[in-house]
Amino acid sequence: MNTALATRVPELRRGELDLLMQRLHTHAGIRIDSTENVVAATIQERMTCLGLREVDEYLSTFDESISARAEWLALLDLLTVKETRFFRQPDAFKCMATFLDELLTAGPAPSELSFWSAGCSHGQELYSMAMVVESAASRSKPWLQWHGIGTDISFNAVNRARQASYPEREARFIPGEYRERFVRTGDNGRCEIGADITGRTHFFHSNLMHVDSAPFADFSIIFCQNTLIYFARERQRWIIDQLVKRLRVGGMLILGAGEDVSWLAKNVRRYQWPGVCAYVKTGG
Ligand SMILES: C[S@@+](CC[C@H](N)C(=O)[O-])C[C@H]1O[C@@H](n2cnc3c(N)ncnc32)[C@H](O)[C@@H]1O
Repeated sequence: MNTALATRVPELRRGELDLLMQRLHTHAGIRIDSTENVVAATIQERMTCLGLREVDEYLSTFDESISARAEWLALLDLLTVKETRFFRQPDAFKCMATFLDELLTAGPAPSELSFWSAGCSHGQELYSMAMVVESAASRSKPWLQWHGIGTDISFNAVNRARQASYPEREARFIPGEYRERFVRTGDNGRCEIGADITGRTHFFHSNLMHVDSAPFADFSIIFCQNTLIYFARERQRWIIDQLVKRLRVGGMLILGAGEDVSWLAKNVRRYQWPGVCAYVKTGG
């Protein structure tokens, strides 16, 4: 957040802030836990961009028009936390690698495999998954056709993810074995994800609130980590059910550590891995 704005942050009346948060909840289905100061500073940032001086003027932009929808997205982009890392929860990726080895070597292996990072932020999670999949496939099933998708509500996050280019301070989280194989350092010193990964990974803008109408299905692995926090508990359970519907039988869902919402659908079983919240779909 630009601290230069702090002196010009508008005074939001209690009712105004509540109204805005309520409308944000109705519009995007998500809760924003930012403090009043952060929300006020964010609104100031948007008002500066739009050349507006009064909060009332800003609030009145939220009508039913297309430009109002664009403004919701711009505001959401600033209010959602994009914190992420390559191999953010290392145990989850070890769990995924073991599951993949089992999937590819026990019984008839699938000829193609797809995976999804739901709430992918700047792409590090999907690229980490892809590195694990490509390594597992080349060990036992080099002919395996695989592809991965990442989705996020933030257009900026999706655009950054598509660039597949990261500064060294972000790339340092990629374990050596993967880094050596899948990452090249460009002339500008940035770390570029290799074409063997980017050619089979794709990013889309999508709101998990509307996941039931998303044309995604038949995944072998879904990661949904550190994203459910934006939703109320009932909505979290509904989203998890929707994610399970989009898994193949035998596929795996990995939530963030501590994001187990005491939910247990009949057609999943817990996959035991210390510190990891993983489930396998057992039936349709
Ligand atoms: C904290 S990041 C987590 C990124 C990654 N999954 C990880 O664990 O490193 C949360 C991401 O969820 C996205 N997000 C928030 N609400 C969303 C929604 N309703 N639909 C899709 N993505 C959403 C945010 O834009 C943000 O990029």
